[in-house]
Amino acid sequence: MLGNFSYKNATKLYFGDDSLKYLNGELPKYGKNIQLIYGGGSIKKNGLYDEIIKILKDNGKNIIEDGGVMPNPTVEKLYEGVKLARENKTDLLLAVGGGSCCDYAKAVSVSVNCDEDPWDKYYLRFEEPDCDIVPVGCILTMAGTGSEMNAGSVITNHSQKLKIGHVFGEEVMPKFSILNPKYTFSLPKKQMVAGIYDIFNHICEQYFSGEDDNTSDYIAEGLMKSVIHSSLIAIEDPEDYEARSNIMWTATWALNTLIAKGKTTDWMVHMLGQSAGAYTDATHGMTLAAVSLPYYRYIMPFGLEKFKRFAEEVWNICSEGKTDEQVANEGLLAMENWMKKIGVIMSLSELGATEDMIDGIAEGTFILEGGYKVLTKDEVKEIIKQSM
Ligand code: NZQ
Ligand code: ZN
Repeated sequence: MLGNFSYKNATKLYFGDDSLKYLNGELPKYGKNIQLIYGGGSIKKNGLYDEIIKILKDNGKNIIEDGGVMPNPTVEKLYEGVKLARENKTDLLLAVGGGSCCDYAKAVSVSVNCDEDPWDKYYLRFEEPDCDIVPVGCILTMAGTGSEMNAGSVITNHSQKLKIGHVFGEEVMPKFSILNPKYTFSLPKKQMVAGIYDIFNHICEQYFSGEDDNTSDYIAEGLMKSVIHSSLIAIEDPEDYEARSNIMWTATWALNTLIAKGKTTDWMVHMLGQSAGAYTDATHGMTLAAVSLPYYRYIMPFGLEKFKRFAEEVWNICSEGKTDEQVANEGLLAMENWMKKIGVIMSLSELGATEDMIDGIAEGTFILEGGYKVLTKDEVKEIIKQSM
């Protein structure tokens, strides 16, 4: 049963190869001080930085430079960003980059006017903001996380060996996001496929829960088919605009709250992957790819009907003359073959995890209860071992 819910998505999107011009229409809505958030320099190399600086200057804005946001943004960087925003009375946090820049901007947005330590309040205690939130806008350069249209924000605390995501309320969603698929052309292939797997897994995390007839699952199957189809084109020709635009749009819909409606949702692959990420600092999508198959093969018997449907609907497996287990297994095998074809990394060892980290990764994995099997700590440990 679909259940009862309310639905609103507060982010305005501008999509397409001319979408940056709409920044001119958004900027007058905010005050003078724009904190320009970006990563390690890709936007300087591909020219986007200069284009944005020009638009900001043409609109008479003060630019507060906040570069150097690292993949998997750290709590130390968050404190720096908050200090910068307080000192400069930031009116808009403008994130230019992938999920790391967007997530970081959201973390700063709820922390600037917060009297408490944001790591403790938001990431350890999962409290909601009770202060004024500085607005966020995003210009996306990497498709994957869906951060451009959701209220998620993931921060890593290396000293505590924790990587934690907080999904805030709609007031923390970006006010606007600019999505130009062409910006993703300069992504290294490794990042492109990590993003593609991240998209696919976001859909799986929501799909593999519940046994009812839910519209969200039909939408999820369509999104999965689209990302599989476009990924195979994009790995051959990364500048195929049609494929890259479909990937970008799918990423947004994979995690902007829509397909979670009426679902309990699983998210255990992300819990396992994030904990591995806290130890290795590995690329997010790759950590998911490494733990996915051991996890799905383990829980498959507990959600057999859905895994069978996944095989038939998403991977076109013919079920004639086969048991449900056979069909479900063939679906996971087809998924494995696709993962190999696009070139994701499928073991934690290759991502830098070592045997002595297994206990810690298991300890740092939050166990959620929305999927087909509530894991025990021992089961978590076993899945991590199999992911090595
Ligand atoms: O820092 P720069 O130089 O920009 O380089 C980045 C970075 O090294 C590079 N890149 C991005 N766009 C580029 C580019 N290089 C060349 N050309 C471009 N157009 O790619 C690298 C990775 O960027 P990053 O932002 O870290 O990747 P992603 O978008 O995958 O974001 C990962 C972060 O998002 C979190 C992850 O945990 C991780 O911390 N997530 C956020 C979620 C959310 N808000 O809902 C959900 C996700 O499950 C995820 O957990
Ligand atoms: Zn993800």
